[in-house]
Amino acid sequence: MSINILGIESSCDDTSASVISDGVIKSNFIANQEVHKRYGGVVPELASRAHQQNIIPVVDAAIKQAGLSVDDITAVAFTRGPGLLGSLLVGSSFAKGFSLAQNIPMVEVNHLKGHVLAHFIKEDPDDTNQPKFPFLCLLVSGGHSQLIVVKDHLEMEVVGSTIDDAAGEAFDKCAKVMNLPYPGGPLIDKLAKGGDPNKIKLSKPRIDGYNYSFSGLKTSFLYHIRDNIKKNPNYIEDKKADLCASLQSTIIAILMDKLDKVVKDTGIKEVAVAGGVSANSRLRQTLMDYAEQRQLKMHIPPFAYTTDNAAMIAITGHYQYLKGDFASQDITPLARFGI
Ligand code: KG4
Ligand code: ZN
Repeated sequence: MSINILGIESSCDDTSASVISDGVIKSNFIANQEVHKRYGGVVPELASRAHQQNIIPVVDAAIKQAGLSVDDITAVAFTRGPGLLGSLLVGSSFAKGFSLAQNIPMVEVNHLKGHVLAHFIKEDPDDTNQPKFPFLCLLVSGGHSQLIVVKDHLEMEVVGSTIDDAAGEAFDKCAKVMNLPYPGGPLIDKLAKGGDPNKIKLSKPRIDGYNYSFSGLKTSFLYHIRDNIKKNPNYIEDKKADLCASLQSTIIAILMDKLDKVVKDTGIKEVAVAGGVSANSRLRQTLMDYAEQRQLKMHIPPFAYTTDNAAMIAITGHYQYLKGDFASQDITPLARFGI
């Protein structure tokens, strides 16, 4: 009999449900929340209300598209954290109800592990393109920038983290300075294509080890714009493409510098990238070029599995299910939850 895992993701502003059967993707539905755009960031109260509205239709669609009925689901996996508490409560409460009603196990998933394990989602049963252990994963999202040594599906060691802002936050906050809507990352990616990445010099952090820092870059970007607007009130409009290209290339240079350090120090031969920022076209190209130079195998996820999605929760739930790692009904979500 197949193991059919229903995955639920509701950690931030996307409500998502997915079905994975024996590790193979059957469906992955995402309801984005447009409501936050006009506020320039995610409003937690509005996010949890929207999750309440979206969760049943999204789950229903995911199970139907998988060609299954609720009675075919073997276990329900949900994001326990990290994330917005009010958002996580919607997904975890739904999973509890579903598990009780169907009398099936429930699996609690760490959202960050989910991003990493997105690399193990199979498109078909013969898909053998998954990374080999141990590999290094660069996890770059709106909330996290981490370098993780992945020793097994469920055994991971964080070797570097950001000490302040995450890479995605740097994209989003600098976008806000340029009056671009939230989330700024995808727009900066698009606008940067028409600009010169070497035009504007921005500050890079000097910190030891494998840790990241992006707050200095954000400040130098802000000061650069403030100083130039005094001379030319239309500076942002006139230089938008160069600003985006220079900012993007600085963020990527910071990411690549520490990644290269870990690769050199550990001798790891396979590298993967995960999280929303891994959708960035220039980061993807830079990683491919780097892999070729250093003769590494690079794993870049399909776009659908870069930003938040339930398929990554379902695949993580699949591996935890195989280990009998089930959650009890009194489990609570966690806003902060390390790998
Ligand atoms: O993983 P994710 O969907 O949510 C979190 O868990 O945080 O990541 C969202 C982040 C946002 O900061 C967004 O601006 C960024 O990913 N992002 C991008 C791109 N697409 C999404 N950043 C740069 N370039 C992109 N193409
Ligand atoms: Zn995420």
